[in-house]
Amino acid sequence: MKDANFLKEHNARSLWHPMAHPADSLANPPTIVTGARGVRITDVDGHEVVDGVGGLWNVNLGYSCQPIKDAIAAQLDALPYYSIFRGTSNDQVIQLAEELRDFFAPDGLSRAFYTSGGSDSVETALRLARQYHKIRGDAARVKFLSLKKGYHGTHFGGASVNGNANFRTAYEPLLAGCHHIPAPYTYRNPFNESDPAKLAQMCLSALEDEIAFQGPGSIAAFIMEPVLGAGGVIVPHESFMPGVREICSRHGILLIADEVITAFGRTGAWTGSRLWGVQPDFMCTAKAITNGYFPFGAVMIAEHVAEVFEGDDTGRAAIGHGYTYSGHPVGAAAALACLDETRKGDLPANAAARGAELYAGLKDLQARYDLIGDVRGHGLMCALELVSDRAKKTPIDKGTIGRVQEGAYAAGAMVRVSGSNIILSPPLVLTSADVQVILRALDAGFAGV
Ligand SMILES: Cc1ncc(COP(=O)(O)O)c(C=O)c1O
Repeated sequence: MKDANFLKEHNARSLWHPMAHPADSLANPPTIVTGARGVRITDVDGHEVVDGVGGLWNVNLGYSCQPIKDAIAAQLDALPYYSIFRGTSNDQVIQLAEELRDFFAPDGLSRAFYTSGGSDSVETALRLARQYHKIRGDAARVKFLSLKKGYHGTHFGGASVNGNANFRTAYEPLLAGCHHIPAPYTYRNPFNESDPAKLAQMCLSALEDEIAFQGPGSIAAFIMEPVLGAGGVIVPHESFMPGVREICSRHGILLIADEVITAFGRTGAWTGSRLWGVQPDFMCTAKAITNGYFPFGAVMIAEHVAEVFEGDDTGRAAIGHGYTYSGHPVGAAAALACLDETRKGDLPANAAARGAELYAGLKDLQARYDLIGDVRGHGLMCALELVSDRAKKTPIDKGTIGRVQEGAYAAGAMVRVSGSNIILSPPLVLTSADVQVILRALDAGFAGV
């Protein structure tokens, strides 16, 4: 490895970072992470911290999961790559599909379409949703509905259903026919409603209204995250997703659950859909499917949707979609080992218990620091929304939130800043002691501004 000075000087000279201004990366060199063990990461200066971000919501089992590493290494020796486009397959993807079918049976999902990550999974689900209607002779159903504040990756389809201007404006015009309804976000919403149950009903009414306005026969699918993640960990009332399911079913609209973050235990349930007792028509997964060790994803498909494709004799169900790395054998081997490891510990129970401790500690911090306007969370996904004026809910400035993050890092925890939110999504194998490290580090961060 080059020495620390070389790396710091050269970082932004020849590379652009995703989700960053190139000039800002040049002016403010990022933390250079060079190692990781358990739930901790180490930077180029040898500073070790608890990773409160869990990679990027994906390293659920931590950084030392040897069986996944071994599976990747062994698969590189056996078959490092082969495509699964029409006419070829491999042993790993076949075995994995059986395992996924079993894992997602309670969600009513029985087929897998492989991808290389979350944005690919979203794109796949949007496309297959349109195709489903075309196969059935309902070709006018092409539009998509989604939630403001939702995040669905950055491909053009995903960005079009995204509900955050930061990921849209610079890249417009986006896909036509994508329309958004208010999110069940109690801290800020157009109805000025802070009661979660009442707000859920208002958002559902807005959905009904938009469907009537667009014409139900023009809408292919509604896509939502069961708990909104990147938008600031917005946890809908328990009535919301079941309400969406009912409305979609009544109008012949497919429901896509974007579970790129929530699948595999993060919310305290195995999937976010299961948390709310909903069976979606498609589920987008990625991230924790390989513990972040290999870029991989799977769109899971409901039995009744699969039957429409498989029963087609017109040719319309031929899938004209897929990626070179759909069904990568190394990714599939990683996912098989990861599923095995995921099932061994009771991850959802640990996510729920540690999440409750973390949430309680964050509420204590809120009682002590006026900068914390709102605390949200479910399982091991939590957010602090920072404000400079609590009564007016004035969003915090970039400099102050950045200093909180730097202070927390110096005191032992990596946390993530997204707009005016500090987001926490640590590995699900976190211990109570690790939770306290994160809370003490945040305390130091707030005390220092
Ligand atoms: C809900 C959701 N969907 C899609 C994506 C996009 O995934 P990727 O960054 O792997 O393309 C993300 C990424 O964080 C996500 O949180």
